[in-house]
Amino acid sequence: MFDRARGAVLLSHPMEPPTPPLPSSSRINDAGHLEVAGCDVVELAAEFGTPLFVYDQQHIHDVCRAYRQAFPDQEGCQVIYASKAFTYLAMCQLVAGEGLSLDVASGGELHIALEAGFPAERIFVHGNANTAAELEACIRARVGHVVVDSLDELAALDGIAGEAGIVQPILLRITPGIEAHTHDFIQTGKLDSKFGFCLADGVAMEAVSRAMAAENLELVGLHAHIGSQIFSLEPYADTVAVLIDFAAECRERYGFELRLLDVGGGLGAVYGPGDDPPSISRLAAELKSALKRETERAGMPLPRLAVEPGRSIVANAGLTVYTVQSVKTVPGVRTFAAVDGGMSDNLRVMLYDAAYEAMLANKAGAPAKVTVTVAGKHCESGDLLVKDARLPEVHPGDILVTPATGAYGYSMANNYNGQPRPAVVFASDGSAREVIRRETYGDLIRLHERLE
Ligand SMILES: Cc1ncc(COP(=O)(O)O)c(C=O)c1O
Repeated sequence: MFDRARGAVLLSHPMEPPTPPLPSSSRINDAGHLEVAGCDVVELAAEFGTPLFVYDQQHIHDVCRAYRQAFPDQEGCQVIYASKAFTYLAMCQLVAGEGLSLDVASGGELHIALEAGFPAERIFVHGNANTAAELEACIRARVGHVVVDSLDELAALDGIAGEAGIVQPILLRITPGIEAHTHDFIQTGKLDSKFGFCLADGVAMEAVSRAMAAENLELVGLHAHIGSQIFSLEPYADTVAVLIDFAAECRERYGFELRLLDVGGGLGAVYGPGDDPPSISRLAAELKSALKRETERAGMPLPRLAVEPGRSIVANAGLTVYTVQSVKTVPGVRTFAAVDGGMSDNLRVMLYDAAYEAMLANKAGAPAKVTVTVAGKHCESGDLLVKDARLPEVHPGDILVTPATGAYGYSMANNYNGQPRPAVVFASDGSAREVIRRETYGDLIRLHERLE
């Protein structure tokens, strides 16, 4: 069953929940193996090796379409995929094909987007510490919008745009002082944040005044991003109210006309059975009605509305496939199943204490019998991927899957302990295509120089 609203399927194990959040096409096949988009995951592991990221390509298309449907162009809406969740050539191509815009947060993400042929005019550039070289690259590429984060960046961008003889459309990133109920490190809209212009201390007002005076910048609108993995719609409505109040004040003082309001990303994904994020259509309804209500109250024309989803587009489309290497029971304490990856391919557990589910792809139909902590292979005691997973009897060689790793998994991957980054495949209609090849040991040293 694919619940488009939640973007995840909950496979019922014959015996026992919890049921992991898998991509929409997932099923248990006749061999008793997990199958995704018509591909047997055990066979994928044999063909491409492990650790391996597998994405259900159609699932990504479906969620992009659900966003476009809920936020239609005709209603003045714009959906901007936050590429940091999973940025790569194939993904940028897919997103471009679905008609979304793209948020990039560095020169590197911009480079990937441009190499993928992403239309520059649909690119929004973010970043709280963009270098002059990164801003020059934006101007050279003629990106659609730069979301300016500081007074320093405002001045720098004005100068660079002036030298190039262009007027660059911009948004200002506002810190609205709203606390989304999520992990501290992924809250970005509260006052004590490194991002954006603070409303409370008047810097946001100063930024509007300077942006309007800047010769080579065109202030099109405002942006805020209040955090990630958000399950409540209230903070979004609050954000709209705060930003419209602010825009109304700027209108009165400086004649600023708000043409685009970008309320960021943040909609939650399903990582486990307790996760129940609002649907995309509920998010859209809440935002549109808040915007209508607040602009009417302020006597302002309705601006265009933009959202910047990342996680909710890709998290449940992807899963990570590992091979169990060893199983160790500490009597009276716990059983560890150690796999051939870990914090090098999934940093979120270490960063945010993120909770994942696990299942055995080669015993997908078997009842759960043991409680196991899935450990990574890295030299950190905290490198644990899943705590207290309920699994069938687990042995070395079993193919273990952690679902819902499609967002901020590969994009945060690293080479700790000299671990090459995994391959990524897109599965579709029974065939799988490698869209990122596995790093080799040679790749690990390709930038190194030897001492004489
Ligand atoms: C500015 C901005 N927009 C959008 C996003 C995407 O957020 P999410 O993946 O939670 O949808 C982020 C994530 O950090 C962000 O910083």
